[in-house]
Amino acid sequence: MVFDLTEEQRMIQEMARNFAQKEVLPKAAELDDTGRYPAELVKQMAELGLMGVAVPEEYGGAGMDNICYAIAMEEIARACASTAVIMSVNNSLACEPLLKFGTEAQKKKYLVPLASGAQLGCFGLTEPGAGSDAGSQKTSAVRDGDCYVVNGTKNFITNAPEADICILFTMTDREKKHKGITTFILDMKIAGVTIGKHEHKMGIKASPTSSIILEDVRIPAENRLGNEGDGFKVAMHTLDGGRIGIAAQAIGIARASLEDALAYAKERKQFGQPIAEFQAIQWMLADMATEIDASRLLAYRAAWLKDRKARHSKESAMAKLYASETAMRAGVKGIQIHGGYGYVKEYPAERHFRDAKITEIYEGTSEIQRLVIASAILKD
Ligand code: CAA
Repeated sequence: MVFDLTEEQRMIQEMARNFAQKEVLPKAAELDDTGRYPAELVKQMAELGLMGVAVPEEYGGAGMDNICYAIAMEEIARACASTAVIMSVNNSLACEPLLKFGTEAQKKKYLVPLASGAQLGCFGLTEPGAGSDAGSQKTSAVRDGDCYVVNGTKNFITNAPEADICILFTMTDREKKHKGITTFILDMKIAGVTIGKHEHKMGIKASPTSSIILEDVRIPAENRLGNEGDGFKVAMHTLDGGRIGIAAQAIGIARASLEDALAYAKERKQFGQPIAEFQAIQWMLADMATEIDASRLLAYRAAWLKDRKARHSKESAMAKLYASETAMRAGVKGIQIHGGYGYVKEYPAERHFRDAKITEIYEGTSEIQRLVIASAILKD
């Protein structure tokens, strides 16, 4: 077993870290305050190959492995969790299903612009009545000649207000339940597609989230991704990869809590010495560092399995579960170490805490990750 990063992995780490520290971090507080979409950072990430890290070069990506993707995600999230999730949805939830299930023509038309960052993608699975129970889709798609007519509402869709393309899940045969779900590549600019309410969130405020309303949208049959009825498997496969990205995002947020708390603890003096000299503070820092390392090892293992095309549902769920809960615990400790200064916006500790929370919710709640893990170990 080798724990060293390869030369390519070290290279992307250094590149993403430099970019994140120089370009992203100085804007993170302003983005959090205003909720502004960081268009200029997304453009820079595209130029650096960060919008399609693990997509082969022939399809517009950087042609790296999934460990490189996790490494880059962590670095961007260390600086700004909002910018990181914009990147993660494009990489994991838009590019990956096209790469895995798309025809050659679909890859050329849709994957190339997404992976190169010329366009932005989103993932339309969640509905008002279908969150954790992703199989209970209500959005209907009815075949009409060489189109499908689609009606329904998707909600909490990350990137939707800025997206060009949506990987859209619909029900083509309600009788068949999850086996009646069908995926489409939706061009967000076509007639009948409306962006609904923009959500005002607790954290990741610069990542745009809204509903998508679909009214008699005519999607060409050639835009069906996979066969009719394959949609649930497309969604589950995609989320197996997506959860690695969110684990890496959570690790980046946790690292932000730790690094900021460490710097503060070395400077802040009470009772005549830096508070870092007190064992009460040291133990908090030690726990944060240990849990971050454990989370990273879990995320790298899941990414390593994905690179080997091995089933990684359980390992991705473990990585996302542990990393997201680590980010929350680190967020709480980061604030505690800052004392009163942790509770005010002058310091970023409270932002890390707010940003961490969503990682326990999206791409499957912690309860859903436990369900996936339990179902896998019961089958073993
Ligand atoms: N890969 C391939 N196939 C899979 C699979 C996987 N990972 N997981 C399940 N399947 C297959 C099963 O083998 C089964 O196949 P058969 O019918 O042929 O036997 C079928 O799918 C149904 O499986 P289950 O009975 O386990 O399905 P379920 O209805 O009990 O649901 C679930 C399973 C894990 C709860 C699933 O619904 C789930 O993951 N829910 C959470 C949804 C989620 O993560 N949403 C996130 C939205 S996107 C988002 O958050 C993006 C963002 O904003 C950043």
